[in-house]
Amino acid sequence: MSTNVDTMNRLSFSMPYRAKWWLMFGLMAAPLAWLIGSALTGGLGANPIEAINRFLGDWALRILLVTLAVTPLKLMFGLTWPVRMRRMLGLWAFAYVALHITNYVAIDQFFDWGDIWRDILKRKFITAGFVAFLIISALAATSWNGAIKRMGVQAWKRLHKLVYWAGVLGCLHYIWMVKADLREPLIHIAILAVLLGVRVYHNLRVYYA
Ligand code: HEM
Repeated sequence: MSTNVDTMNRLSFSMPYRAKWWLMFGLMAAPLAWLIGSALTGGLGANPIEAINRFLGDWALRILLVTLAVTPLKLMFGLTWPVRMRRMLGLWAFAYVALHITNYVAIDQFFDWGDIWRDILKRKFITAGFVAFLIISALAATSWNGAIKRMGVQAWKRLHKLVYWAGVLGCLHYIWMVKADLREPLIHIAILAVLLGVRVYHNLRVYYA
């Protein structure tokens, strides 16, 4: 483990934290910039609404998994700088989820609330996505420092542990949506399982130490 820590610390290069923060911010913004560019130049294929919806859903889930990787990176490699970026990463995940849902509500469903509600109740992949969305929204709404003071540290931590459920429900949303080729959702599920596994392993080690 110590070799891993040494290697990762060398890999975390001597870039100042501020520069790393902006680099990460740029990486999170890049898919959105690409999407806007493609939409403006007609590069989204024959069904742009579906392409936008899927693109935003994909990136919402990927960034959620990146956010969930922060603690395992600290536990396994001693990397602490990603911890300081967790709020920014989580808010990017929220932004992509919010855009994904706005696209579905406004462009796909034309604000037909009756139809949207029926979808939430009847199609289990939409139900799972909806609950994940509620969780991610609650976490985004309480992501500012004042919320920790108002709620108290313990209650705030309990609420923010729900992020794991958002990850699980996001993956279920994906695999329940896909009808034939399950490879991509299964890759996301495998990554989530590794990230959760590292935490469980660490907690068991602490418990039995
Ligand atoms: C109210 C909440 C949500 C609704 C209504 C919703 C709706 C949808 C719809 C309609 C699709 C496309 C289905 C199709 O093209 O056949 C989709 C795909 C997807 N959504 Fe959501 N979604 C929600 C929440 C979420 C959340 C919270 C995440 C991630 C954290 C997410 C990630 C995805 C992914 C990864 C896909 C598959 C994209 C692909 O095919 O490559 N969705 N969603």
